[in-house]
Amino acid sequence: MHFLTIDDFEVDGKTILVRTDINSGVDENKEPVDNIRIKHHSKTIKELSDKGAKVVILAHQGRLNGDDFIRLEKHAELLSKHIEKDVKYIDDIFGSYAKKSIKEMEKGDIILLENVRFSVEETAVKKDHHKTHMVRELSGLFDYYVNDSFAVNHREHVSLIGFPAVLPSFAGRILQKELEVLTKLMENPQRPSVLCLGGGKVDDSIMVIEKMLSNDAVDTVLTSGLVSMVFLAANGDYIGNATHSVLVDKKADLEIKSAKKILKKYKDKIVMPIDFAIEVEGKRVEIPFSALPSDYPILDIGKKTIKLYKEIIDGAGTVVGNGPAGVFEKEQFALGTEELFHAMHESKAFAVIGGGDSSIAAEKMGLLDKMDHFSTGGGAFILYISGKSLPGVDALVNSAKKYSTLITRVS
Ligand code: 3PG
Repeated sequence: MHFLTIDDFEVDGKTILVRTDINSGVDENKEPVDNIRIKHHSKTIKELSDKGAKVVILAHQGRLNGDDFIRLEKHAELLSKHIEKDVKYIDDIFGSYAKKSIKEMEKGDIILLENVRFSVEETAVKKDHHKTHMVRELSGLFDYYVNDSFAVNHREHVSLIGFPAVLPSFAGRILQKELEVLTKLMENPQRPSVLCLGGGKVDDSIMVIEKMLSNDAVDTVLTSGLVSMVFLAANGDYIGNATHSVLVDKKADLEIKSAKKILKKYKDKIVMPIDFAIEVEGKRVEIPFSALPSDYPILDIGKKTIKLYKEIIDGAGTVVGNGPAGVFEKEQFALGTEELFHAMHESKAFAVIGGGDSSIAAEKMGLLDKMDHFSTGGGAFILYISGKSLPGVDALVNSAKKYSTLITRVS
Protein backbone atom coordinates (compact mmCIF):
# COMPACT_ATOMS: atom_id res chain seq x y z
CA MET A 1 0.00 0.00 0.00
CA HIS A 2 1.65 3.20 -1.10
CA PHE A 3 0.22 6.56 -0.16
CA LEU A 4 1.90 9.94 0.16
CA THR A 5 2.35 11.93 3.36
CA ILE A 6 3.06 15.50 4.44
CA ASP A 7 6.78 14.73 4.11
CA ASP A 8 6.40 14.26 0.35
CA PHE A 9 5.17 17.79 -0.32
CA GLU A 10 6.37 21.35 -0.10
CA VAL A 11 3.32 22.94 1.53
CA ASP A 12 4.57 26.50 2.06
CA GLY A 13 2.15 28.95 0.42
CA LYS A 14 -0.13 26.15 -0.84
CA THR A 15 -3.88 26.04 -0.28
CA ILE A 16 -4.77 22.68 1.23
CA LEU A 17 -8.12 21.03 1.88
CA VAL A 18 -7.91 18.81 4.97
CA ARG A 19 -10.67 16.27 5.72
CA THR A 20 -10.70 15.62 9.47
CA ASP A 21 -12.98 13.61 11.72
CA ILE A 22 -13.81 15.79 14.68
CA ASN A 23 -17.21 14.17 15.13
CA SER A 24 -17.82 14.35 18.89
CA GLY A 25 -20.29 13.57 21.62
CA VAL A 26 -22.62 16.47 22.45
CA ASP A 27 -23.65 17.82 25.86
CA GLU A 28 -27.17 18.62 27.10
CA ASN A 29 -27.07 21.92 25.17
CA LYS A 30 -26.23 20.01 21.98
CA GLU A 31 -22.74 21.49 22.00
CA PRO A 32 -19.80 19.25 21.04
CA VAL A 33 -17.61 18.16 23.92
CA ASP A 34 -13.88 18.53 23.68
CA ASN A 35 -12.04 15.26 23.23
CA ILE A 36 -8.82 13.58 22.31
CA ARG A 37 -9.82 13.25 18.64
CA ILE A 38 -10.05 17.04 18.27
CA LYS A 39 -6.75 17.38 20.13
CA HIS A 40 -4.97 14.94 17.82
CA HIS A 41 -6.40 16.42 14.61
CA SER A 42 -5.16 19.80 15.76
CA LYS A 43 -1.59 18.54 15.40
CA THR A 44 -1.85 17.90 11.64
CA ILE A 45 -3.59 21.24 11.10
CA LYS A 46 -1.02 23.11 13.20
CA GLU A 47 1.88 21.45 11.38
CA LEU A 48 0.52 22.49 7.96
CA SER A 49 -0.28 26.02 9.13
CA ASP A 50 3.13 26.43 10.80
CA LYS A 51 4.75 25.34 7.52
CA GLY A 52 3.01 28.24 5.74
CA ALA A 53 0.02 26.46 4.19
CA LYS A 54 -3.46 27.99 3.93
CA VAL A 55 -5.49 25.27 5.64
CA VAL A 56 -9.18 24.69 4.93
CA ILE A 57 -10.81 22.04 7.12
CA LEU A 58 -13.72 19.89 6.05
CA ALA A 59 -15.50 17.80 8.70
CA HIS A 60 -18.79 16.24 9.73
CA GLN A 61 -20.77 16.14 12.96
CA GLY A 62 -23.66 13.77 13.58
CA ARG A 63 -24.38 10.11 12.93
CA LEU A 64 -24.95 8.81 9.47
CA ASN A 65 -28.75 8.47 8.95
CA GLY A 66 -29.23 10.34 12.22
CA ASP A 67 -31.12 13.58 12.80
CA ASP A 68 -28.40 15.11 14.94
CA PHE A 69 -26.35 17.16 12.50
CA ILE A 70 -25.22 20.46 14.02
CA ARG A 71 -23.19 23.46 12.89
CA LEU A 72 -19.44 23.44 13.46
CA GLU A 73 -19.06 26.87 15.10
CA LYS A 74 -18.14 25.41 18.48
CA HIS A 75 -15.74 22.91 16.88
CA ALA A 76 -13.81 25.88 15.46
CA GLU A 77 -13.43 27.25 19.00
CA LEU A 78 -12.20 23.90 20.29
CA LEU A 79 -9.71 23.58 17.42
CA SER A 80 -8.49 27.15 18.04
CA LYS A 81 -7.86 26.25 21.68
CA HIS A 82 -5.72 23.21 20.81
CA ILE A 83 -3.89 24.78 17.86
CA GLU A 84 -3.37 28.06 19.72
CA LYS A 85 -4.21 29.91 16.51
CA ASP A 86 -7.47 31.39 15.29
CA VAL A 87 -9.61 28.90 13.35
CA LYS A 88 -12.21 30.91 11.44
CA TYR A 89 -15.61 29.25 11.10
CA ILE A 90 -17.34 29.71 7.72
CA ASP A 91 -21.00 28.70 7.72
CA ASP A 92 -20.92 27.54 4.12
CA ILE A 93 -19.48 24.47 2.36
CA PHE A 94 -19.03 25.29 -1.34
CA GLY A 95 -21.16 28.39 -1.97
CA SER A 96 -19.86 31.85 -2.86
CA TYR A 97 -19.13 32.78 0.78
CA ALA A 98 -16.92 29.70 1.24
CA LYS A 99 -15.12 30.27 -2.07
CA LYS A 100 -14.53 33.99 -1.39
CA SER A 101 -13.21 33.18 2.10
CA ILE A 102 -10.77 30.61 0.70
CA LYS A 103 -9.50 32.97 -2.00
CA GLU A 104 -8.82 35.70 0.59
CA MET A 105 -6.69 33.47 2.86
CA GLU A 106 -3.09 34.27 3.69
CA LYS A 107 -0.22 31.93 4.55
CA GLY A 108 -0.80 30.16 7.88
CA ASP A 109 -4.54 30.98 7.97
CA ILE A 110 -6.96 28.24 9.02
CA ILE A 111 -10.67 28.05 8.27
CA LEU A 112 -13.26 25.42 9.11
CA LEU A 113 -16.09 25.01 6.60
CA GLU A 114 -19.64 24.05 7.61
CA ASN A 115 -20.67 20.48 8.51
CA VAL A 116 -20.13 18.59 5.24
CA ARG A 117 -23.08 16.28 5.99
CA PHE A 118 -25.42 19.27 5.51
CA SER A 119 -24.75 18.70 1.81
CA VAL A 120 -26.99 15.86 0.59
CA GLU A 121 -24.35 14.99 -2.01
CA GLU A 122 -21.83 14.01 0.66
CA THR A 123 -23.51 10.75 1.64
CA ALA A 124 -26.06 10.19 -1.17
CA VAL A 125 -23.85 10.04 -4.25
CA LYS A 126 -22.86 6.45 -5.09
CA LYS A 127 -20.57 6.89 -8.12
CA ASP A 128 -18.47 9.52 -9.89
CA HIS A 129 -17.91 11.33 -6.61
CA HIS A 130 -15.50 13.69 -8.39
CA LYS A 131 -18.31 14.98 -10.64
CA THR A 132 -20.38 16.38 -7.75
CA HIS A 133 -21.02 20.09 -7.20
CA MET A 134 -18.92 19.96 -4.05
CA VAL A 135 -15.81 18.72 -5.84
CA ARG A 136 -16.33 20.84 -8.97
CA GLU A 137 -16.87 24.03 -6.97
CA LEU A 138 -14.02 23.55 -4.50
CA SER A 139 -11.24 21.57 -6.14
CA GLY A 140 -10.02 24.42 -8.40
CA LEU A 141 -9.19 26.46 -5.29
CA PHE A 142 -6.75 23.91 -3.86
CA ASP A 143 -3.24 22.68 -4.55
CA TYR A 144 -3.56 19.56 -2.41
CA TYR A 145 -6.06 17.42 -0.55
CA VAL A 146 -5.18 15.81 2.78
CA ASN A 147 -7.12 12.91 4.28
CA ASP A 148 -6.59 12.79 8.04
CA SER A 149 -9.98 11.34 8.96
CA PHE A 150 -9.17 7.68 9.64
CA ALA A 151 -12.40 7.19 11.63
CA VAL A 152 -14.64 7.84 8.63
CA ASN A 153 -12.51 6.17 5.94
CA HIS A 154 -14.84 3.17 5.77
CA ARG A 155 -17.45 5.45 4.13
CA GLU A 156 -17.65 6.05 0.40
CA HIS A 157 -18.44 9.72 0.80
CA VAL A 158 -17.74 12.61 -1.57
CA SER A 159 -15.36 14.43 0.78
CA LEU A 160 -13.24 11.27 1.00
CA ILE A 161 -13.41 9.77 -2.49
CA GLY A 162 -14.12 12.73 -4.77
CA PHE A 163 -11.18 15.06 -4.06
CA PRO A 164 -8.30 12.54 -4.31
CA ALA A 165 -9.51 11.71 -7.83
CA VAL A 166 -8.81 15.27 -9.01
CA LEU A 167 -6.15 16.62 -6.63
CA PRO A 168 -2.69 15.42 -5.57
CA SER A 169 -3.49 13.96 -2.16
CA PHE A 170 -1.73 12.74 0.92
CA ALA A 171 -2.39 11.33 4.36
CA GLY A 172 -2.37 13.57 7.43
CA ARG A 173 -0.47 12.54 10.56
CA ILE A 174 -3.39 10.72 12.24
CA LEU A 175 -4.18 8.61 9.20
CA GLN A 176 -0.50 7.95 8.54
CA LYS A 177 0.08 6.70 12.11
CA GLU A 178 -3.11 4.64 12.20
CA LEU A 179 -2.19 2.86 8.96
CA GLU A 180 1.42 2.28 10.00
CA VAL A 181 0.58 0.91 13.46
CA LEU A 182 -2.48 -1.12 12.52
CA THR A 183 -0.91 -2.64 9.40
CA LYS A 184 2.07 -3.83 11.46
CA LEU A 185 -0.29 -5.17 14.08
CA MET A 186 -2.19 -7.25 11.53
CA GLU A 187 0.78 -8.43 9.53
CA ASN A 188 3.46 -8.93 12.12
CA PRO A 189 2.19 -8.78 15.72
CA GLN A 190 4.55 -9.50 18.63
CA ARG A 191 3.50 -12.93 19.90
CA PRO A 192 1.58 -13.99 21.82
CA SER A 193 -1.02 -11.68 20.38
CA VAL A 194 -4.15 -11.19 22.48
CA LEU A 195 -7.46 -9.75 21.34
CA CYS A 196 -9.59 -8.40 24.17
CA LEU A 197 -13.13 -7.89 22.92
CA GLY A 198 -16.14 -6.62 24.83
CA GLY A 199 -18.88 -4.09 24.29
CA GLY A 200 -22.16 -4.48 22.48
CA LYS A 201 -21.20 -4.45 18.78
CA VAL A 202 -21.31 -8.22 18.46
CA ASP A 203 -21.51 -8.36 14.66
CA ASP A 204 -18.30 -6.36 14.21
CA SER A 205 -16.53 -8.29 16.97
CA ILE A 206 -17.38 -11.72 15.59
CA MET A 207 -16.15 -10.59 12.16
CA VAL A 208 -12.80 -9.44 13.61
CA ILE A 209 -12.36 -12.67 15.59
CA GLU A 210 -13.08 -14.80 12.52
CA LYS A 211 -10.71 -12.85 10.29
CA MET A 212 -7.84 -12.49 12.73
CA LEU A 213 -7.95 -16.16 13.72
CA SER A 214 -8.06 -17.35 10.13
CA ASN A 215 -5.13 -15.04 9.25
CA ASP A 216 -3.21 -16.40 12.25
CA ALA A 217 -2.90 -12.81 13.52
CA VAL A 218 -4.04 -13.66 17.05
CA ASP A 219 -3.26 -16.38 19.61
CA THR A 220 -5.88 -15.79 22.30
CA VAL A 221 -9.25 -14.01 22.34
CA LEU A 222 -10.45 -12.77 25.73
CA THR A 223 -14.20 -12.24 25.55
CA SER A 224 -16.30 -10.02 27.78
CA GLY A 225 -19.42 -7.86 27.51
CA LEU A 226 -22.09 -9.05 25.08
CA VAL A 227 -19.40 -10.71 22.94
CA SER A 228 -18.85 -13.26 25.73
CA MET A 229 -22.61 -13.80 25.99
CA VAL A 230 -22.69 -14.74 22.30
CA PHE A 231 -19.92 -17.30 22.84
CA LEU A 232 -21.58 -18.71 25.96
CA ALA A 233 -24.82 -19.09 24.01
CA ALA A 234 -22.91 -20.70 21.13
CA ASN A 235 -21.32 -23.09 23.60
CA GLY A 236 -24.80 -24.18 24.74
CA ASP A 237 -24.57 -22.42 28.12
CA TYR A 238 -27.85 -20.78 29.12
CA ILE A 239 -27.12 -17.39 30.69
CA GLY A 240 -30.67 -16.56 31.80
CA ASN A 241 -33.44 -14.49 30.30
CA ALA A 242 -32.43 -11.14 31.76
CA THR A 243 -29.27 -11.12 29.61
CA HIS A 244 -30.32 -13.46 26.81
CA SER A 245 -33.17 -11.09 25.92
CA VAL A 246 -30.53 -8.46 24.97
CA LEU A 247 -29.14 -10.91 22.41
CA VAL A 248 -32.66 -11.51 21.13
CA ASP A 249 -33.24 -7.73 20.84
CA LYS A 250 -29.99 -7.44 18.89
CA LYS A 251 -31.12 -10.27 16.58
CA ALA A 252 -27.80 -12.00 17.32
CA ASP A 253 -28.80 -15.40 15.86
CA LEU A 254 -26.34 -15.10 12.98
CA GLU A 255 -23.52 -14.14 15.34
CA ILE A 256 -24.30 -17.09 17.60
CA LYS A 257 -24.12 -19.36 14.55
CA SER A 258 -20.78 -17.85 13.52
CA ALA A 259 -19.50 -18.16 17.10
CA LYS A 260 -20.40 -21.88 17.03
CA LYS A 261 -18.24 -22.32 13.93
CA ILE A 262 -15.38 -20.38 15.53
CA LEU A 263 -15.58 -22.55 18.66
CA LYS A 264 -15.53 -25.72 16.57
CA LYS A 265 -12.31 -24.69 14.86
CA TYR A 266 -10.50 -22.59 17.48
CA LYS A 267 -11.97 -23.55 20.87
CA ASP A 268 -8.57 -23.49 22.59
CA LYS A 269 -8.04 -19.86 21.53
CA ILE A 270 -11.34 -18.44 22.81
CA VAL A 271 -11.50 -17.60 26.52
CA MET A 272 -14.89 -17.04 28.15
CA PRO A 273 -15.59 -15.55 31.60
CA ILE A 274 -15.62 -17.92 34.57
CA ASP A 275 -17.59 -15.62 36.84
CA PHE A 276 -19.86 -12.61 36.48
CA ALA A 277 -21.17 -9.48 38.21
CA ILE A 278 -24.95 -9.23 38.19
CA GLU A 279 -27.14 -6.33 39.27
CA VAL A 280 -29.36 -7.09 42.25
CA GLU A 281 -31.38 -4.10 43.48
CA GLY A 282 -28.78 -1.69 42.10
CA LYS A 283 -25.85 -3.53 43.74
CA ARG A 284 -22.94 -5.51 42.27
CA VAL A 285 -23.18 -9.18 43.22
CA GLU A 286 -20.60 -11.71 42.00
CA ILE A 287 -21.66 -15.19 40.89
CA PRO A 288 -19.64 -18.13 39.53
CA PHE A 289 -20.28 -19.71 36.13
CA SER A 290 -21.97 -22.66 37.92
CA ALA A 291 -24.72 -20.28 39.20
CA LEU A 292 -25.98 -19.62 35.64
CA PRO A 293 -28.67 -19.11 34.42
CA SER A 294 -29.28 -15.90 36.33
CA ASP A 295 -32.56 -14.01 36.61
CA TYR A 296 -30.56 -10.84 37.04
CA PRO A 297 -28.75 -8.96 34.24
CA ILE A 298 -25.04 -9.69 33.87
CA LEU A 299 -23.31 -6.29 33.72
CA ASP A 300 -19.62 -7.09 34.16
CA ILE A 301 -17.05 -9.88 34.35
CA GLY A 302 -16.29 -11.16 37.86
CA LYS A 303 -13.05 -10.86 39.86
CA LYS A 304 -11.79 -14.37 39.05
CA THR A 305 -12.19 -13.65 35.34
CA ILE A 306 -10.42 -10.33 35.78
CA LYS A 307 -7.49 -12.15 37.45
CA LEU A 308 -7.34 -14.77 34.69
CA TYR A 309 -7.50 -12.18 31.88
CA LYS A 310 -4.88 -9.99 33.57
CA GLU A 311 -2.44 -12.91 33.71
CA ILE A 312 -2.93 -13.57 30.01
CA ILE A 313 -2.49 -9.87 29.16
CA ASP A 314 0.63 -9.76 31.30
CA GLY A 315 2.26 -12.49 29.23
CA ALA A 316 1.28 -11.01 25.87
CA GLY A 317 3.49 -9.40 23.22
CA THR A 318 0.57 -7.50 21.68
CA VAL A 319 -2.87 -6.67 23.08
CA VAL A 320 -5.66 -5.16 21.04
CA GLY A 321 -8.70 -4.03 23.01
CA ASN A 322 -12.04 -3.03 21.64
CA GLY A 323 -15.23 -2.57 23.65
CA PRO A 324 -15.60 -2.28 27.42
CA ALA A 325 -15.78 -5.45 29.56
CA GLY A 326 -18.93 -4.27 31.33
CA VAL A 327 -21.43 -1.45 31.72
CA PHE A 328 -18.70 1.00 32.81
CA GLU A 329 -21.14 3.92 32.85
CA LYS A 330 -22.47 2.46 36.15
CA GLU A 331 -19.66 2.88 38.67
CA GLN A 332 -20.16 -0.52 40.33
CA PHE A 333 -19.78 -2.30 36.96
CA ALA A 334 -16.71 -0.40 35.70
CA LEU A 335 -14.28 -2.72 37.52
CA GLY A 336 -13.69 -5.19 34.66
CA THR A 337 -13.08 -2.45 32.08
CA GLU A 338 -10.84 -0.52 34.45
CA GLU A 339 -8.73 -3.51 35.52
CA LEU A 340 -8.22 -4.80 31.97
CA PHE A 341 -7.20 -1.35 30.70
CA HIS A 342 -4.75 -1.00 33.60
CA ALA A 343 -3.35 -4.45 32.81
CA MET A 344 -2.90 -3.45 29.16
CA HIS A 345 -1.11 -0.27 30.14
CA GLU A 346 1.12 -2.00 32.73
CA SER A 347 2.08 -5.06 30.65
CA LYS A 348 5.14 -5.05 28.42
CA ALA A 349 2.85 -5.81 25.48
CA PHE A 350 2.30 -3.32 22.68
CA ALA A 351 -1.16 -2.12 23.74
CA VAL A 352 -3.73 -0.73 21.33
CA ILE A 353 -7.32 0.20 21.99
CA GLY A 354 -9.97 1.30 19.54
CA GLY A 355 -13.66 2.04 19.35
CA GLY A 356 -15.75 4.93 20.61
CA ASP A 357 -16.88 3.37 23.91
CA SER A 358 -13.39 2.11 24.79
CA SER A 359 -11.94 5.55 24.14
CA ILE A 360 -14.56 7.20 26.33
CA ALA A 361 -13.94 4.66 29.12
CA ALA A 362 -10.14 4.89 28.88
CA GLU A 363 -10.22 8.69 28.75
CA LYS A 364 -12.46 8.75 31.85
CA MET A 365 -9.88 6.55 33.59
CA GLY A 366 -6.96 8.73 32.45
CA LEU A 367 -5.48 5.81 30.48
CA LEU A 368 -6.13 6.74 26.87
CA ASP A 369 -2.93 8.69 26.26
CA LYS A 370 -0.93 6.04 28.14
CA MET A 371 -1.64 3.22 25.67
CA ASP A 372 0.97 2.57 22.97
CA HIS A 373 -1.67 3.47 20.42
CA PHE A 374 -5.31 4.40 20.60
CA SER A 375 -7.26 4.29 17.41
CA THR A 376 -9.47 7.28 16.61
CA GLY A 377 -11.71 4.90 14.66
CA GLY A 378 -14.69 2.82 15.70
CA GLY A 379 -16.12 1.06 12.63
CA ALA A 380 -13.03 1.95 10.57
CA PHE A 381 -10.71 0.41 13.20
CA ILE A 382 -12.68 -2.83 13.36
CA LEU A 383 -12.92 -3.15 9.59
CA TYR A 384 -9.27 -2.36 9.02
CA ILE A 385 -7.90 -4.82 11.57
CA SER A 386 -10.19 -7.49 10.19
CA GLY A 387 -8.45 -7.09 6.82
CA LYS A 388 -11.04 -5.06 4.90
CA SER A 389 -9.85 -2.25 2.68
CA LEU A 390 -11.07 1.26 3.45
CA PRO A 391 -12.45 3.26 0.49
CA GLY A 392 -10.89 6.52 1.72
CA VAL A 393 -7.46 4.89 1.89
CA ASP A 394 -7.91 3.24 -1.53
CA ALA A 395 -8.66 6.69 -2.97
CA LEU A 396 -5.40 8.02 -1.50
CA VAL A 397 -3.42 5.09 -2.92
CA ASN A 398 -4.93 5.71 -6.37
CA SER A 399 -4.19 9.41 -6.10
CA ALA A 400 -0.55 8.63 -5.25
CA LYS A 401 -0.29 6.52 -8.43
CA LYS A 402 -1.87 9.26 -10.53
CA TYR A 403 0.01 12.26 -9.13
CA SER A 404 3.32 10.93 -7.84
CA THR A 405 5.25 12.45 -10.76
CA LEU A 406 3.82 15.91 -9.98
CA ILE A 407 4.79 16.16 -6.34
CA THR A 408 7.52 18.37 -5.00
CA ARG A 409 9.50 16.06 -2.76
CA VAL A 410 10.76 17.68 0.39
CA SER A 411 14.48 16.96 0.61
C1 3PG B 1 -17.26 7.95 14.06
O1 3PG B 1 -17.61 8.74 14.95
O2 3PG B 1 -17.07 6.74 14.25
C2 3PG B 1 -16.95 8.49 12.71
O3 3PG B 1 -17.05 9.88 12.71
C3 3PG B 1 -17.85 7.88 11.69
O4 3PG B 1 -19.14 8.28 11.94
P1 3PG B 1 -20.37 7.59 11.14
O5 3PG B 1 -20.45 6.19 11.69
O6 3PG B 1 -21.56 8.44 11.46
O7 3PG B 1 -20.01 7.61 9.69
